[in-house]
Amino acid sequence: MGAAAQPTNGSGKEPHKNGSSKEPKIKHPERLRIALLAWYRAHKRDLDWRRTRDPYAIWISEIMLQQTRVAAVTPYYRSFLARFPSARQLATARLDSVLRYWAGLGYYRRARHLHRAAKQIVSRHGGEFPRGHAEALALPGIGNYTAAAVLSIAYNAPLAVVDGNVARVLARLGAVPGELRTPAVWRRLTAMAAALLAPDASGDWNQAMMELGATICTPQSPHCAACPVSDWCKARALGIANSLPAAQKKPAKVRILLAAAVLLDPQGRTLLVRPPDGDKRSGDNHAVPEHGVLFSRLWQFPAIARRVTPVGRNRASHRSANRTINNATRRLARHLEQTLGISAPLLEPLATAKHAVTFRDIRLVPFLVRVRRLPAVPGARILPIAEIDRLPVSSATRKIAASVARVLPAHYAG
Ligand code: ADE
Repeated sequence: MGAAAQPTNGSGKEPHKNGSSKEPKIKHPERLRIALLAWYRAHKRDLDWRRTRDPYAIWISEIMLQQTRVAAVTPYYRSFLARFPSARQLATARLDSVLRYWAGLGYYRRARHLHRAAKQIVSRHGGEFPRGHAEALALPGIGNYTAAAVLSIAYNAPLAVVDGNVARVLARLGAVPGELRTPAVWRRLTAMAAALLAPDASGDWNQAMMELGATICTPQSPHCAACPVSDWCKARALGIANSLPAAQKKPAKVRILLAAAVLLDPQGRTLLVRPPDGDKRSGDNHAVPEHGVLFSRLWQFPAIARRVTPVGRNRASHRSANRTINNATRRLARHLEQTLGISAPLLEPLATAKHAVTFRDIRLVPFLVRVRRLPAVPGARILPIAEIDRLPVSSATRKIAASVARVLPAHYAG
C-alpha cells in the first residue's frame, strides 16, 4: 500500500498522526475494492472532468467542486477552461479577468489562489502541474484533499482523499461514532481511507468513494438496498446506518444589515469601489470588521455593514428594526459624505433582498442616490449601471443591481 494523504478536517491545523492502530478494520477489503470499482465503472456520472487526465483541468474541477454542486459546476468549468485552457494561460491572465470567470461560484479566495498557483506552476514546474506530493502541497490553495485528488486522478498516485462525502461513507462503513469534523474522528477516518485505498487504481477508487457518498450513501439516507458495499458496512449490520454520522453542531448565524448606495448620474452611470480592508475604528460594537468579505473583496457599491439582533414578531421588535434601518441609513449618508464628498445625499429606498455568506444572514438594504456628477475618487470605477458585470462583482452586488433594474428598466433596455 502506498503512502496515503493525510487530509485535514478542514482547519488545516491538526497534526499528521498515524492513527492506523485505531482505524476500524474492514474484513476482506480486496473484495470490497472489486465491488466498489465495478459499481463505479458501470454507474459513474458522465462528467466533463472525468473525460480527461490533464492534471490542470482536474485541478480546476476539484477546486470548483469544493464549493458547488456538480450540476452547477459544469457550465463554469467549461467556460473557465475555454478561456484559460492551461496553467500558462491562467498565469498570464489579469486577476480581474480570472475573477470575472469565477463570478457566481463564490469563495473568490480560491480563484486568487488558482491564479497565484498557476504562476508558480509556470515559474517552478515548466507549466506542468507537479507530480510530487510535497511540490503540489507547496502551491497556494492546495491542501491535502486537493493534492490527493489531482495526483491520484491525473497520475494514479496512491493517495487517499477524504472529503465530506468520503468521511460519511467511511463513518458508516466502520460504524465510527462522533462528529466527522472533530480532529480525532477525522484522523481515524483518514487512516481508514488510507488502508482501504485501491493502490493500483487510486484515481477511480477515490472518485468511486466520492460518487458513492454523493449518489447513494447520502446525508439524508444511506440507501443501503442500492449500495454496492452494504455487505461490508458495520453501521448497516448494527442497524445504525441512519443515525450515523453524528449530527454536526452548527455555529449560530450572525445577522448583518448592509446598506448600499447605488449612485446614478443622468447618463445612467454608477460608481463601484473596492471594499475596505476592515473597519479599524474602535468602540463601535456593531461595525462589521470583515466588511470586505461580504462582497468577496470584489467591486461593490459604496456600503456600510452593521451587526443586528434578530427581529421578533412583536411591535417593540419592529420598532427596533425600523430604528436599526434608520440608523444604518444615517450612517450610509455620512459614509457617502466622508468618502465620496457627497453632501446631504437623498437616499431613495429600493427593494431589500436577503443574502447568505457562510454563517452570516445578511439583509441587503439598497438606496438609489441620483447625482448630477459622479465623484472622481482614486481607485473607484465609473461605468453604465447596466454593465457592472464587466468588472468582477459578487452575488450581493448583483442582487443590489437587480433592485435597481426593477425601478429603472429603461437603463437596462438594449
Ligand atoms: N467531488 C469532488 N471531486 C469529485 C470527483 N472527481 N468525483 C466525484 N465527486 C467529486
